[in-house]
Amino acid sequence: MYKIAVFVSGRGSNLKAILNSIAKSKTKIEVVCVISDKIECSAFEIANKYKIPTYSVSQSENEFYVSYNEIISILKEFGTDLIVLAGFLKKIPDTLIDSFEKKIINIHPALLPSFGGKGMYGLNVHKAVFEKSAQVSGATIHFVDKIYDNGKIIAQESININGVNSPEEIAKKVLKIEHKLLPKIIFKFSENKVVEKNNRIYVF
Ligand code: GAR
Repeated sequence: MYKIAVFVSGRGSNLKAILNSIAKSKTKIEVVCVISDKIECSAFEIANKYKIPTYSVSQSENEFYVSYNEIISILKEFGTDLIVLAGFLKKIPDTLIDSFEKKIINIHPALLPSFGGKGMYGLNVHKAVFEKSAQVSGATIHFVDKIYDNGKIIAQESININGVNSPEEIAKKVLKIEHKLLPKIIFKFSENKVVEKNNRIYVF
């Protein structure tokens, strides 16, 4: 069984897409836990329906949260093969990155290296894309390193947005791509088909 942990911050539509794809494909992938920087969020409701354990994580001490050190132990106990940031909007601390080197991926709702970095998440990204009058946008899946949206790119899919009238319209189009691209790449990881060669990432 290939074990993944999914980090979320709110709505959880990507989490839902992952769970639906796993259910449909009957591949041997298990979502071992869902982790959020929130105490309550609709992504947790989705996890609860599937009886997947949930944890709220925070850097600061609070009785409702577990610390990142505890999360690292929990993820190791589950035997986590891959950590998927699916709409997780906080920065991952270096300790977690060091513990799961090249095992953390993120989905970003634009075509990196443009429209990434600190503060570039959710609708902020689509607003920037809209205001710049970019004519294409899309989704990027990349490895997570210690700098925001900086790790090597694993997969991208683009869409023409030259007729759109609002950032929300871009968000809707890009989300459709995300819901297909993220499960697809997770499956590729589970089949050992994501390989680094010549300083590039190849997905077979
Ligand atoms: C998604 O569009 C995801 O790409 C974005 O947050 C949204 C979460 O939606 N992530 C980022 O902006 C990270 N920089 P969801 O909770 O419905 O999956």
